[in-house]
Amino acid sequence: MPVIEVVLGDITSEDVDAIVTVANESLLGGGGVDGAIHRTAGPRLAEAGSALAPCATGDAVATPAFDLNPPVRHVIHTVGPVWEGGGYGEADLLTSCYRRSLEVADEVEARSVAFPAIATGVYGFPPAQAAKIAISTIRATPTEVERVRLVAFDEETHDLLAAAAQA
Ligand code: APR
Repeated sequence: MPVIEVVLGDITSEDVDAIVTVANESLLGGGGVDGAIHRTAGPRLAEAGSALAPCATGDAVATPAFDLNPPVRHVIHTVGPVWEGGGYGEADLLTSCYRRSLEVADEVEARSVAFPAIATGVYGFPPAQAAKIAISTIRATPTEVERVRLVAFDEETHDLLAAAAQA
């Protein structure tokens, strides 16, 4: 089971083997954290992503990290669920995002991975419930990943992730 670190910051500054971006199924880039990562990794990220598209909600695929600074070698693109009230399998799909991202990290032999708070921005997933899903899924998924960093972009998300990690 990986060590889980909860931090406040910008995921594009993380020193890990792989960072996870929260995309849409086109993998062409968008706003939010996806936009930040595409801006930093450069246009080759969208080219590589679109060659693997469409990516289904709950699934994940890896591309090189291109212009992102070392040691980041991989970007893992996952597509979170749009929150529609909770009755449409959103929790299971978010669980799948974390599980599939760890499986893909194993495929590329990444031993340290940084995640943003998947689906809690534009897609509107309640951050408290999302934090619990993140922690429980990372703890429950068999993986060779040794270190997971959950990178919050705001204090509220950070505190929710920290509370879930301590529960
Ligand atoms: N570093 C870390 N976290 C960030 C950063 C950053 N640079 N920028 C934003 N975040 C946080 C947001 O504050 C939020 O907590 O990432 C979390 C996810 O928010 P979004 O980026 O809006 O992602 P999501 O809710 O999954 O929506 C995905 O938005 O950008 C489009 O193409 C993307 O269609 C997809 C949708």
